[in-house]
This record gives sequence, structure tokens and C-alpha cells, in this order.
Amino acid sequence: MTKRRLTEAEKAFAAKRAEVLDRVDAAYVASAPFVFADRITVTAALSRIELFKKIQDIPGAIIECGVYKANSLMLYMHLSTILEPYAINRSIVGFDTFSGFTGIDPEHDPSDINTSMFSDTDMSLIEQMIEANDLVRPVNRIPRCELVKGDIARTAPEFVKTRPDLVVAMLILDTDLYESTKVALETFLPYMPKGAVVVLDEVAYRNFPGETKALREVLDLNKVELKRLPFDAAAGYFHV
Ligand SMILES: C[S@@+](CC[C@H](N)C(=O)[O-])C[C@H]1O[C@@H](n2cnc3c(N)ncnc32)[C@H](O)[C@@H]1O
Repeated sequence: MTKRRLTEAEKAFAAKRAEVLDRVDAAYVASAPFVFADRITVTAALSRIELFKKIQDIPGAIIECGVYKANSLMLYMHLSTILEPYAINRSIVGFDTFSGFTGIDPEHDPSDINTSMFSDTDMSLIEQMIEANDLVRPVNRIPRCELVKGDIARTAPEFVKTRPDLVVAMLILDTDLYESTKVALETFLPYMPKGAVVVLDEVAYRNFPGETKALREVLDLNKVELKRLPFDAAAGYFHV
């Protein structure tokens, strides 16, 4: 969430946690992530688990548009490895510039965002953790998780040309922006079988209207059974 204003209580929580984090190293945090996670991070994890359950019986790819530090993407990799270790027809593909917002549309996206937002990420670190998890994954000779770097407006249409086997079980739209969401919907929807799930991380959300506008332009909203998860602030999903 780029534009959330923190409450005084949340600022106090962040300050207290920073004090605690000063006392430990990264290995300690990695060994007990829930000790340090905030409510929003845990809520996001819970949402992803609920959404994953909806596509467990649908073959094909989980495509995430907007990966950032890969917290969600890697959670999907863990869920897939643990719950469907032998699903060799499941791939998890993350699309991002890995250098921040790209293709901000002044007409459709907020005026107070810029291209440096979400640039504090490291693609090589994510790749190394995919490789590390592959070491202990069954049937690891077949890749499960991959990253596609670049502007989705270009990379998504290029990607589908390289994958004649492509079926998309779940499309996660989380770039927060209009153009990339629209291109992703137009590109991947034809590869989604009936029952597959489209997730919009910020739908009907005033601060980031781009995802919603793109959805309305690509599909007739009257024909989309858009739903929310009861505990998640802004995410929505629908079955194709
Ligand atoms: C809200 S973050 C994604 C958060 C992530 N899904 C998670 O759950 O942690 C939005 C991401 O979209 C990416 N992004 C924005 N516009 C893009 C574009 N046109 N092409 C590729 N990535 C883009 C940004 O680089 C950023 O990492």
C-alpha cells in the first residue's frame, strides 16, 4: 500500500518494532517471521492462502503482475510446493520491472505517485531464494517459479508467444496501475479456463482507481461476479 497514512498507534508500533529489530540480525528475523510481521502482512498472507485454495483443482499457471519484493510470489511457491508438490503443470510466474512503477498514466493513475516507488527491491535476491527453495523441492528438474523483468505492457504479450502450453489458473493484478492492468487482462484472459480466478489487489479503491478502470474497460462489470474476502481491505476477485 503506497499511499496509506499511518495512524498514531501504527507509528508507535513501527517505532517499537524498530527498537526490537535493532537487537537481532536477519537470520533471527527469518527464523521467526511472525514475531515481526505486522497485521497487514499477516492479512495479506491469509488472503493469498484463501485465494490459492480456490485454484488448487485447476491446472495451469499462477501469474502475478506486480511482484515487488516477492513476498506473495514466494508464498505461492511455498503453498504449491507443500500442497501440490508433484503438480508439474503448475508454474508461478512473476512479472515486474523490479525497478518500480512504470507506465504511470496521468489520466487514469493518481497524480501523487512516481517512478521511484517500489524501486527498493533486488531481483537477484529473489532469484537466489527461488534457487534455494528448488534445492529441497520434489521434481525440481522442472521449474516451478520464474520471474519476467520489464514493463508488463511489453513483456506479457511477448511471454504468451513463448508458451504454447499456457493455461492460466490464477491471474493476480497488483501493479496498482491502469495500463499494465489493462494489458495483463487483455493478454491473459483468453488463456483462463472457466472457473479460473482473477485477483485485483486494489479494486473499487479510491486511492488507486487504475485497476478498476482497466477492469471496467476490458469486461462488462454486469457480467462479472466480483467478490471480496471478508477480512481484506481492498482485494477483490472473480471466477472467469
Ligand atoms: C504493489 S507492488 C506489488 C506487491 C506484491 N504483489 C506483493 O504482494 O508484495 C506493485 C509492483 O508493480 C510493479 N509495476 C508497476 N508498473 C509496472 C509495469 N508497467 N510493469 C511491470 N511492473 C510494474 C512495481 O515495480 C511494483 O513492484
